[in-house]
Amino acid sequence: MTEEDIDEAQILRAGEILRRGGLVAFPTETVYGLGGDAFNPESSRKIYEAKGRPSDNPLIVHICRIEDLDRVAARVPREARILAKAFWPGPLTMILPKRPELPGETTGGLDTVAVRFPSNRIAMALIEAGGGFIAAPSANRSGRPSPTLAQYCREDLDGRVDMIIDGGQVGLGLESTIIDLTDKVPVILRPGFVTWEKLQEVLGNVDAGSLVPDLNDSSAPKAPGMKYRHYAPKGNLTIVDGPADKVTAYINEKIRGHRAAGIRTGVICTEETKDAYSADLVKSAGPREDEETVAKELFRILREFDDEEAGEIYAESFDSTGVGRAVMNRLLKAAGQRVIHL
Ligand code: TXA
Ligand code: MG
Repeated sequence: MTEEDIDEAQILRAGEILRRGGLVAFPTETVYGLGGDAFNPESSRKIYEAKGRPSDNPLIVHICRIEDLDRVAARVPREARILAKAFWPGPLTMILPKRPELPGETTGGLDTVAVRFPSNRIAMALIEAGGGFIAAPSANRSGRPSPTLAQYCREDLDGRVDMIIDGGQVGLGLESTIIDLTDKVPVILRPGFVTWEKLQEVLGNVDAGSLVPDLNDSSAPKAPGMKYRHYAPKGNLTIVDGPADKVTAYINEKIRGHRAAGIRTGVICTEETKDAYSADLVKSAGPREDEETVAKELFRILREFDDEEAGEIYAESFDSTGVGRAVMNRLLKAAGQRVIHL
């Protein structure tokens, strides 16, 4: 189905599955989600099992009305109301103190809750049909890139969920921005399409957070999910940063070496440079200036490299401002933070 042509009968069936404690994968504007009833601890347990995800990594509760925020959050500070008005429905998740009625299974045992009101119409209809509060992580198996197509949900979750709703390719392609509102100064835990710059405009003082979590920092991470290696492609991914001519020359030399050793090489590049590479698999994520397109294509490219069995993958680097910050955050995580500076 599409957002313009919603299959009401399928949504009703999906809602029924959710109300009975089952799982439904569904499109949102960011990536596909794996939904279960947020108030049913058994549903949350099933989500962890289906994803193969550690149960201390909390889920995002999806709502379809701003006023429902007060049904899951114990306190809603002024900043949260301002952000909801400015960015909801949309790709922004807020961390707030949780209400006691919300099961600890859904929040990974934390006393805070992540809440999001997605703008995808299929998602909104499903949340409503499912009772209004749908816990949903991204609909990938743990450690795989988040799915941007229903086909990828099927690859990862077929037989592990009760229904997969096919809503075509998602609009944005990277997961929502996460902002923690439980401290004095709001802090970004995961960069996304609602950028630090936009959040600053609306709230004033916002901490941009670190571009990637410090893997050597042994103190408890703010967003528990951040400590796990994410989006890991099967091949070794290396980011190469520097002037374009040096980057292409460096990568081309690596490609020759890998080819001699019988290893397939993939390159994640941009429209401007795609003809400069001699790799087996060269994939442009879009024009360098068009960060939104790059963001939309990134996870698809990583998945394709898995299917095509790229043993070594090189990615160009991107500016870490605006949406580029989200792109670099995901790339760095996928690369296990392996970066060559030229
Ligand atoms: O765009 C999205 O946010 C997608 C779609 C499906 O809505 N969902 C998504 O969920 O990306 P997931 O589970 O893949 O990522 C949620 C992140 C995890 O890193 C998790 O640790 C963090 O949010 N998180 C959830 N609840 C939290 C909490 N109470 N405090 C801090 N971090 C939390
Ligand atoms: Mg995820």
